Amino acid sequence: MSAGYNNAYKKSVEQPDAFWLEAAQRIDWINNPETGWTPGQGWFCDGQLNTCWNAIDRHVLAGRGNDAALIFTSAITGQEHTYSFAELQDHVARTAGMLSALGVTRSDRVVLYMPMIPEAVFAMLACARIGAVHVVVFGGFAAPELAKRIDDTQPKALLTASCGLEGAKVLPYMPMVEHALDLCTHKTPSVVVFQREQVQADLSARGHHDWAAIVAKAPPADCVTMSAQDPLYILHTSGTTGAPKGVVRENGGYAVALAWSMENVYGVKPGEVFWAASDIGWVVGHSYIVYGPLLVGAATVLFEGKPIGTPDAGTFWRVIRDNNVSAFFTAPTAIRAIRKDDPDAHYLKEIGTGSLRAIFLAGERADPDTVHWLERQSNLPVIDHWWQTELGWPAIATCMGLGDTRRKAGSAGFPVPGFRISIVNDSGEEIAPGEAGHVTIKTPLPPGCYTSLWNNPARFSKAFANFQDRYETGDSGHADEDGLISIMSRTDDLINVAGHRLSTGQMEQILMAHPAIVECAVIGVPDPIKGMAPLAFAVARGSIDHDQRAALPGALIDLVRTELGPVAALKTVYLVDAMPKTRSGKILRNTLRQLLSEEHVEVPPTIDDPDTLRRIRAVLKSQSSA
Ligand code: COA
Ligand code: AMP
Repeated sequence: MSAGYNNAYKKSVEQPDAFWLEAAQRIDWINNPETGWTPGQGWFCDGQLNTCWNAIDRHVLAGRGNDAALIFTSAITGQEHTYSFAELQDHVARTAGMLSALGVTRSDRVVLYMPMIPEAVFAMLACARIGAVHVVVFGGFAAPELAKRIDDTQPKALLTASCGLEGAKVLPYMPMVEHALDLCTHKTPSVVVFQREQVQADLSARGHHDWAAIVAKAPPADCVTMSAQDPLYILHTSGTTGAPKGVVRENGGYAVALAWSMENVYGVKPGEVFWAASDIGWVVGHSYIVYGPLLVGAATVLFEGKPIGTPDAGTFWRVIRDNNVSAFFTAPTAIRAIRKDDPDAHYLKEIGTGSLRAIFLAGERADPDTVHWLERQSNLPVIDHWWQTELGWPAIATCMGLGDTRRKAGSAGFPVPGFRISIVNDSGEEIAPGEAGHVTIKTPLPPGCYTSLWNNPARFSKAFANFQDRYETGDSGHADEDGLISIMSRTDDLINVAGHRLSTGQMEQILMAHPAIVECAVIGVPDPIKGMAPLAFAVARGSIDHDQRAALPGALIDLVRTELGPVAALKTVYLVDAMPKTRSGKILRNTLRQLLSEEHVEVPPTIDDPDTLRRIRAVLKSQSSA
């Protein structure tokens, strides 16, 4: 164990206030906080700051205006541009001016439905600059999901673009945006569209604004003073119901935690380049594409493209080499996709990894085989680490910046300073090493973690209700004798598909809305590339005819796509005549999983009709031979 990690962890749990007030010195405060945690109120109650100032202006003021800040590279269009801190300041201040001109002011919400282009980053930072709260919606979600987030947060403005580029596909955004606006009960006063050259959207019909035209006229806006606890953003994540949870992140604790983590978890210094190959629609994008690197004066890479196919499995290594990336963060699924296309890592060997020091993985479980392959091929430390939207930054990791190097493939590492992780049984008692249990974190959670759920305090409280003084993460895992923690699966019906967190319960709700369906179950099944993939069993009404029945699986797949979005990646629906159920009517999802994996099926003693298993097996057999 490194002394650096040991000392930091010890201090963080024994003297959390002193530890975090010291960490807070990394931030420029307008009013320096003198209090750490205040029960019932939170972190740094007396602190005032502006997060955008900390990410940009202070570096310009310190004479680093010409240093690289935002490196945009599109593997789809070939576009490349590096924005210095001074240029970024100019773009962000003018985008903030655009928002002010539209009447957006402190604490107003601004929804962003944007592809991975610099304007999306400008807009997020512009919101932070004027105290507006951004609500970024991932582009892979369909119109109804966008509508839910608009209705939940009642924005003053919606910022979007004329299209997204998904590999070779050009996806016009406006049909989706217009559809979402039609579905909403909230009327968004201003819709601003950034016209990309691939698609010119018609803005006149509904009076939408042209982004470039208003930015050109907008005077730059200055940073406003925010209290540490004012919200910086709301980011929705999947919960176990159809309604997404709006995670609220505050300014002060988040800035402190991200700056601390850049240095101590990732070991990144000012002037270096960090790349998180994620999307701004996810928490990884918020924390480590937009805010984290800039807060410490490092440059960040904004990448438009895919790990494979844009144009090949060497894209990641090219971006790393050509931009002198020091630390790289991606999801295991991306590495599995690269490995499938380039099993002997020819691209990696030919292109090299330049000045890269380490590769960090998160978003889903990193299987040891993938970790070993990547370490072998890259000759670099591959660090799995674990966190979630609610937490905002890593809770379990190998803290490279603290000199720690201990790791074991299959484990996400050790608790990060500030996080008091314990693995407990159903009664909340800590359990012995090796035994699997609920992964919980003792409260208060450290700075940067969520402080509420937008419009839903009761749902927020639920995460703290089951285990006294502990936050329930919803993950299960185990620790080994050395304290290395492995995260194995969820304890609820969420699944991770290609690093994207999705609710099978929500997909079931969507399928049940189809008039021909009487019952259904969606389960996650192992997928060699995406880690997991959803798969549905459905029981159709007896009244439908043969043709309707034949068309039903395709119609159900389309329904999930149009209601939830293509990112759901539901590709298989089995029509069965009945679900395996207990006598009390509960669907036996585990039995369905066993049937699918062709492993030994334990017939539950409570099963209502054991013959359903035989009939489902017959369906699976006939489909696999079809
Ligand atoms: N906008 C619109 N559509 C999107 C989208 C976006 N931002 N992101 C994904 N989609 C669509 C895709 O085009 C695809 O549509 P299709 O069914 O018409 O082909 C669908 O959603 C599923 O996308 P995806 O999960 O990305 O699968 P894929 O087969 O296109 O690519 C991988 C597979 C492994 C290459 C890809 O999943 C990947 O890069 N994963 C890494 C994800 C990641 O970095 N996650 C980080 C979270 S921390
Ligand atoms: P999200 O909130 O979308 O970031 O998803 C968080 C969830 O992804 C966690 O609760 C875990 O279930 C899963 N997850 C994230 N990182 C890891 C990891 N390193 N190992 C295992 N599961 C992970």
